[in-house]
Amino acid sequence: MKEIKIAVLAGDGIGPEIMAQAVKAVDKVAAKFDYKITYTHAVVGAAAIDAVGDPYPEATHQTCREADAVLFGAIGDPRFDNNPEAKVRPEQGLLAMRKKLGLFANLRPVNTFPSLLHRSPLRHDLIEGADFICIRELTGGLYFGRPQGRSEDGQTAYDTCVYTRAEIERICRLGFEYAAKRRRHLTVVDKANVLATSRLWRETAKAMEKDYPEVEVDYMFVDNAAMKIIQQPRHFDVIVTENMFGDILTDEASVITGSLGLLPSASIGEGTSLFEPIHGSYPQAAGKNIANPIATILSAAMMFEYAFSDMEAGAAIRRAVDLSIEKNIVTEDIAPAGVKPSTTSEVGDFIAANI
Ligand code: IPM
Ligand code: MG
Repeated sequence: MKEIKIAVLAGDGIGPEIMAQAVKAVDKVAAKFDYKITYTHAVVGAAAIDAVGDPYPEATHQTCREADAVLFGAIGDPRFDNNPEAKVRPEQGLLAMRKKLGLFANLRPVNTFPSLLHRSPLRHDLIEGADFICIRELTGGLYFGRPQGRSEDGQTAYDTCVYTRAEIERICRLGFEYAAKRRRHLTVVDKANVLATSRLWRETAKAMEKDYPEVEVDYMFVDNAAMKIIQQPRHFDVIVTENMFGDILTDEASVITGSLGLLPSASIGEGTSLFEPIHGSYPQAAGKNIANPIATILSAAMMFEYAFSDMEAGAAIRRAVDLSIEKNIVTEDIAPAGVKPSTTSEVGDFIAANI
């Protein structure tokens, strides 16, 4: 019996609904693969602002630190968007969490599901067989650089992009290591023709090439990468890039898979790892039982694989997810024309039952 502690941070919007489905899947894995799992629920985001006035309270941080892994739902609430009065925003909780937990790398695998090829707005023959992983730096760059703010007269605003060589090196190292284990092709995405931080990225990555002679490296400007991801996704094996570029490119890449509701991610770093879907809180769908739970359920699969080195448990979840897609037990975002969409909880029940 393997005993593990999971911190569950459902967050805002559809967070609680999709998280409930992931927990069902994890419970089923626990029963099948002999785990004893203790869940500790904690608040984050708008839910935490409402409860205690802080989007990432210290108590939540302690819960995460003491856990073996964190499952995270989503953050964001329209009450705080376009609201200049809001002193604190839910997203600050997500950033604080990433920073305080030292989660400097976000791994976002992108691949296709054969039975969903027809759902992508992209041509089958372009996307078939696409299989890459985007490694997004998660605790630096524009998201965290200071100064950030407004001039006193309110007429000027600024953000600062900052990267140290050490930060670049540790994320690029991960990129090289993943590439070495996969198809030995690393693409470093930057904007070195314009940005000083990008030039430091390129210089740092170039200096590391000699440590990984087996890995072929190419350097690509982010605008070109944005085009190539859609035009020739099979070109990519491992992409490593800075925080904001990775944020944008992975939403774009979800189009290859078929829906933003399908892409999981793992955030890893100095301590406890965290597993989260790449999508947001989808407030329009909150409480309606229509959101796609698959990205969160696949994040739970990544948890078993990455945090507990249990490939079999991860594979069992993946097989059940594949089956739900094959059998069209899916939510409206990926349901084919003429097929009645299933609800969030029906998809969750089906997947759990088939693990
Ligand atoms: C993501 C999200 C977040 C980000 C938002 C909600 C702050 O888009 O995880 O990709 O930009 O990092
Ligand atoms: Mg994003």
